[in-house]
Amino acid sequence: MSNSKDTNLSWGGRFNEATDAFVARFTASVDFDQRLAPQDIQGSIAHATMLTKVGVLDENELESIKNGLTTILTDIENGTFEWSLALEDVHMNVEAALTSQIGITGKKLHTGRSRNDQVATDIRLWLRHEIDAIGAELTRLQQGILGLAKAQAETIMPGFTHLQTAQPVTFGHHLMAWFEMLERDYGRLLDCRKRLNQSPLGAAALAGTTYPIDRYMTADLLGFDGPTRNSLDSVSDRDFAIEFCAFASILLTHLSRASEELILWTSAQFDFIELPDRFCTGSSIMPQKKNPDVPELVRGKTGRVNGHLVALLTLMKSQPLAYNKDNQEDKEPLFDTVDTVKDCLRAFADMIPAIQPKKESMREAARRGFSTATDLADYLVRKGIPFRDSHEIVGKSVAFGIAENKDLSDMSLEELRQFSTVIETDVFDVLTLEGSVAARNHIGGTAPEQVRIAVQSAAERLSNRT
Ligand code: ARG
Repeated sequence: MSNSKDTNLSWGGRFNEATDAFVARFTASVDFDQRLAPQDIQGSIAHATMLTKVGVLDENELESIKNGLTTILTDIENGTFEWSLALEDVHMNVEAALTSQIGITGKKLHTGRSRNDQVATDIRLWLRHEIDAIGAELTRLQQGILGLAKAQAETIMPGFTHLQTAQPVTFGHHLMAWFEMLERDYGRLLDCRKRLNQSPLGAAALAGTTYPIDRYMTADLLGFDGPTRNSLDSVSDRDFAIEFCAFASILLTHLSRASEELILWTSAQFDFIELPDRFCTGSSIMPQKKNPDVPELVRGKTGRVNGHLVALLTLMKSQPLAYNKDNQEDKEPLFDTVDTVKDCLRAFADMIPAIQPKKESMREAARRGFSTATDLADYLVRKGIPFRDSHEIVGKSVAFGIAENKDLSDMSLEELRQFSTVIETDVFDVLTLEGSVAARNHIGGTAPEQVRIAVQSAAERLSNRT
């Protein structure tokens, strides 16, 4: 095609004037979608291989397309490829470079294909690759949690409701609660991978193509489970990206909760743990400060990830079938979500095994807050007192403790017997922190024995991951 009017090489045929310079910049995506180049080239090689098998291209043509694309990929990886805004996006940049390198055969690559099925394929391939990397990093974080939980199976800390001391728990049990959240996140990630792993290639612009293509072959070459089932849906569906961002939002929500706890625990008021200096920064004015910046940043990044989810949902809302240019806006939120998730997981996976618990301080906090009051109530019930009455009796003992500045376990037998004469010396077995946690010895309970069982079965699940 002659290009005397300076119109776009790839689609300029029906145009009489060049694209407005602002419009060219406004509609271009190459600045960000060049990130998809390896997948774009992978998809093109699969497409050309299939076209050769069905007789649309010959072996020589396939060979020169493959060689050309491989050289282009090397140039891109070496940073020597010249990206052009005028060529709009990664797809047309690569194709134009191919044509300038191998001549007329390069122009045959786009036979039976459209950028619409091409980009849908590229993003799926890219996201699938990133999902696998994220899954590995999530597993590393979970392993770190298991290691710490095992080591801290007996460490006692206060358990909270309403951020008020409630009952003693073991630190290992608390950590295993984080593990469970992440275990569900991992399941969501796998679900997302399963649904996205379908090949849109062959849907072409929207309706399919008149060439005798073999969609099973391209699906197979690209490691997809099979071809997508509807061409209109194939080019317009982005719910795999939305689903990934939903996974990311929930994951970051979980990490933000853990972050919040780490931040509280490092404060002088809690003083439950020490984070190594390498995960903290200082203050330029207050020399004493050591700030938990890493968990604070992870907590903060939850906001941008949630924002990206809402951006994608809003982008897709009310879009008529099939492809619309709106969908070009899917990439930046998705890319940033992936980058943010990877960074946050890395920060956490590095940080968790480095946590140094301050066991004495945790124990003291558990001891101070009347955390064994429920144990005393349960003790009275075992002595024949109805639970509501025992609740009242223990309430009075706690009020006495507050007035006298004494925890339940600090009171003498006589002091305790003011509230109920059924109390005998065996009460002290249940008022100790160790007795309290050890008694909750059932699946899902906080007893050290249960924590060890939970760690063991979780480790088995992790080792079954491929
Ligand atoms: N850059 C485009 C995108 O990301 C590629 C598909 C363009 N298709 C089209 N018909 N304009 O969505």
